[in-house]
Amino acid sequence: MRILRCDSLDDWAEHLAHLLISRLQVTPSLRLCLPTGVTPVPVYDRISDAVRAGRVSFRQSEVFLLDEFGGVAPDDPGRCDRMLSRFLLDRIDLPPDGFHRFTLDGDIDGECRAFERLIGSGCDLTLLGIGTNGHVGMNEPGSSADSLTRRVDLAPETTAATARYFDHDRLPTWGVTQGIGTIRRSGEVWLLAAGAGKAAIVDRIVNGPVTVDVPATLLRNHPSALLVVDRDASAV
Ligand code: GLP
Repeated sequence: MRILRCDSLDDWAEHLAHLLISRLQVTPSLRLCLPTGVTPVPVYDRISDAVRAGRVSFRQSEVFLLDEFGGVAPDDPGRCDRMLSRFLLDRIDLPPDGFHRFTLDGDIDGECRAFERLIGSGCDLTLLGIGTNGHVGMNEPGSSADSLTRRVDLAPETTAATARYFDHDRLPTWGVTQGIGTIRRSGEVWLLAAGAGKAAIVDRIVNGPVTVDVPATLLRNHPSALLVVDRDASAV
């Protein structure tokens, strides 16, 4: 895994936006897996600006949602698809049928299998945030390296951490997520971490053993894994 350390949050977001814009310019039909959460928001802001300025386009690309909360109303602003729309998709030129998300109102296992088929041999590029317990997507500790898109229970600390996404206290206890195996099929995997709150887990991902107890470590030996951290997230 390569590691890119940036001096400030601004630098970090600039770098990531620049890298992603370059990928899209080279491959306009890029198949992307994107996360929600707070971490990527400054990157998404810059990407939206670049689209508005005509520097890059998503017209030919596809976006696969990384994960989704279960038991949450379809119009809840805390849903992952709603967050990704608000922070990025509503502000770029991706055609509506280029966004692949989870509906979760029927046969969930069947929907997960269909999502796997849609991803097929893998996305070209997957961006990931990191949970403080080392989860990626909703692959909590214990998730295996070959896990696929599936329904999962959230760790209690993950449920508690979702409070910042919702404007009510009916927090999700489960969800569906692309698996570690699904993510490992991606041509490139970029792990994003910013802020002092991620420093301890970044240290374990970089220096600790590869273990299912810290799911992000299962991506360390991916041939094109890149960890991008700002100064605060790399300062243990
Ligand atoms: C959440 C999401 C992940 C996200 C991570 C970090 O639970 N399921 O996809 O990347 O935790 O979130 P944040 O970026 O808000 O710290």
